[in-house]
Parts: sequence; C-alpha cells; structure tokens
Amino acid sequence: MQPVPLTHIGILVKDLDASRPRWATVLDLPFSPITRYRPQNWSDLGNPVPHLHDARLTFFLGVNPSIEILEFVGNGTHSPAKGEGGHHVAFPPLADCALRRQELADLGIGTDGEFFHAGRWMLTFADARPMNNVYTEWVEEHPDHPDVKDDLSPINRLPDGSKTLFDIATIEAVGGVRPPSGITEIGIAVDDLDKAAITWQAVIGCHFHGDADQTSMVSNELHPRIRLVQQSDTASRQGLYFAVVSVPDLGRTQARLRSAGAPIFHKRLGPEGSQEEVWVDPEYLNDFSIRFRAA
Ligand SMILES: [Fe+2]
Repeated sequence: MQPVPLTHIGILVKDLDASRPRWATVLDLPFSPITRYRPQNWSDLGNPVPHLHDARLTFFLGVNPSIEILEFVGNGTHSPAKGEGGHHVAFPPLADCALRRQELADLGIGTDGEFFHAGRWMLTFADARPMNNVYTEWVEEHPDHPDVKDDLSPINRLPDGSKTLFDIATIEAVGGVRPPSGITEIGIAVDDLDKAAITWQAVIGCHFHGDADQTSMVSNELHPRIRLVQQSDTASRQGLYFAVVSVPDLGRTQARLRSAGAPIFHKRLGPEGSQEEVWVDPEYLNDFSIRFRAA
C-alpha cells in the first residue's frame, strides 16, 4: 500500500487542565480550548457494551502532524490503566473505514475501540497490542462527529461554515492557515526491532532500515520520520515516547524554555556529539519526551 502520513499523535494524561498549559509553554503555540468527543455508543475491549465515551481533549494549533492531548476516561482504550504518555497515531480521513479494518484484520490486527453511526465506522482504534502498544486511529470524514465544547455547547464554525475546535480568533490570527508543528520525527519503543519494522511497514506502507546506532530502525519515506527504538535501550514500556521538533534557533528555544521554567536537558548525540538537542524533562510532559533540534 501507499505510505500514509501521520495527521496527529495522541497523548493520554491524567489531568488535562493541568497538562494543557505546560504543553503550550513548551511548544510556544496555543492548544485549542478543551472540547469533548462524545460518541453515545462507543465500545472497546475493556467495555464491549456500547456506552457513552465522554473524552475530553485539546489539539495543538501546529499541524503536519498535530498533537492531541486526551484525558483518562472509561475502562478501555483511554483508561488510567494505559498510563500517561504516548497513546496513538492518527492518519488522514478515509472514504471507507470498513475497508481499512478488513485490511488490518488480514494482517492479524483487530479492533479495540470503535464507534458505528449512520452505517459508517466513524472512528476505529486498532488493537495496540500487535503495534507495540501504539493505537492507530482511523476515521471517516463525516458531519456527525460528536465534538462539543467542554460545556456541551456546539463547537465553533469558521466563516466558511466548517467546524473548528479552536477559538475563531486563534485561527484568524494565523490567517486561517494553521502553522507547521515542526515535528520531524517520532519515536516508538519496541521489544523486537525486526518484527516491529515488518508490522509497521505492513500497516503504514513505508520501509524501515537499520540506523547507524544499531539500536533503532527508521523510515524516511514519511513526514515525520518514524523511528522504532529497541526498548531495552530507552523506555520502561513499549510505545510512542518521543517527538523531535525542529526549530530555527536552538539557543533561542533553550533560553525561552529556561525563562518559562520548563525543566530541560542539553544533549549531544551522534558521532563526536555532532547533533545537539534540547530535551524537555518527560516528567513535565506526562511521561512524553519533546526533543528540540536545530533545523
Ligand atoms: Fe486522535
């Protein structure tokens, strides 16, 4: 299949109101007001009986890819048992989600969370277990997606009539065009590099090759790059755990983060420390690692 680009990454948190301002401080662009996605008949492996799934969330203004932060809810896909941190990766809306579900099933990847409406699979979270503890989110474009404001009133509409999760003034301030997030790479901790590369290649259609460090495999065919990292060298669990953000002036970003009170580390990577990065302490960002690098 053709490689499919990521549209957003999803981060799961315990307290969205507390996390949202921290992420905005680190990334230096606003997040949307808190909204809710409220399908009445969500079901997932944790609770297969169709039920209300009242998911509070916020989206980063930056795109390609954006960042969605969601609060713990329910006993399944978004439960506290999943832990804070990297949760899912999402792709452009599909014309027919049923087809994608069948393709995934043919690869041995079932469904965990799902929501069926008006004869369509509106939203599907594929089972994260065969995908290194990362959910893949598949949606169909549809006018009935159940987004509402945090107070349950309708979400805003832009002058062209389209729905937006943002304040109108925020979108007008950027001339109607959301800026790039600057995310150039995401990292996923995996327990078996070769096996993970085969699975991810089958699902998103891009090829992975071993990197010089021997502990990761990377695909350069998509934006952002996707790096699979041998788990023992990195994280305590499998899953999505870092994003590299490219900035024009690393020194300026470092100074900005310091003055904002964000806890940071300066890192030198690569051969003879050729690569400089400024890492934000994952404890500050819900166990997720944002790593700034000079463009
Ligand atoms: Fe999402």
